[in-house]
Amino acid sequence: MRDSRETFVNHAFVTGYPIKHSRSPLIHGYWLKQLGLPGSYRAHEVRPEDFGGFIASLKDGTSGFCGGNVTIPHKELACRLADRPDELSQELGAANTLWVEDGEVRATNTDGRGFVANLDERAVGWDKTSTAVVLGAGGASRAVIQAVRDRGIKTIHVVNRTVERAKELADRFGPSVEAHPMGALKEVMAGAGLFINTTSLGMDGSEALAIDFGIMASGAVVTDIVYVPLKTPILAQAEAQGLAIVDGLGMLLHQAVPGFELWFGCRPTVDAALRQRIIDDMDRH
Ligand code: ATR
Repeated sequence: MRDSRETFVNHAFVTGYPIKHSRSPLIHGYWLKQLGLPGSYRAHEVRPEDFGGFIASLKDGTSGFCGGNVTIPHKELACRLADRPDELSQELGAANTLWVEDGEVRATNTDGRGFVANLDERAVGWDKTSTAVVLGAGGASRAVIQAVRDRGIKTIHVVNRTVERAKELADRFGPSVEAHPMGALKEVMAGAGLFINTTSLGMDGSEALAIDFGIMASGAVVTDIVYVPLKTPILAQAEAQGLAIVDGLGMLLHQAVPGFELWFGCRPTVDAALRQRIIDDMDRH
């Protein structure tokens, strides 16, 4: 019989290459302290060539970790090497959350859940529209497209500079997703109720795109998955035109919730103090 005083102290990681700029240790450290739990969560850098060995050490228990987060450039490999990637991560071809269960490495992707939870918190009713526009077709857009589709939005227009990348996503995510070149942006935005930016437009030295948000449905919501800066050039434009905007910081905070619950057995909440802690950290760096 197990000694009733025995406590399990779980240790979790965030791995990537590089990883020192990750804000995940701040988020999970905040929750561990708030909930008075004895575990730990720390950044653990792994080179791409060592990632297979890291997964093996998770599986055989020698890593000392019960699970953790995975970020760039390991998300695809994490999904491939896990013993049991779930359906969400398999469809994306990328995992951001791992845990060990019954000697197997399991994987999921919580980015989409984080995206949706952020909108549920800050723009109630956002899902009443039938049409969404996603600007960008990079790696970061995938979980967003999947989540919006799974929430039941009927038509998702993916608009991208390189239309072939948008077409790949339409093939991957099915008939509700339509691919378009940049030139079609105005046409597909007309009457849409949700606009999601997944690009670095206006922030990477490129010229900020002038977008007329006035042609969207009344009550339309504009959101961005980039959260540095908090108010991206696209959000600033939308706000100036009187639209409701939701910044991307909440997605980062909410995507962390399912992992914390898996590793530490307690569901944490995203509160204003946590959000402020990350904003303060952004101001410092
Ligand atoms: P991530 O994985 O973070 O999404 P990515 O795969 O490099 O990063 O994708 C960046 C997205 O921003 C892409 O949709 C990219 O368009 P392309 O697929 O045509 O490259 C888009 N993007 C970046 N800079 C852009 C610019 N100056 N104009 C238009 N689109 C841009």
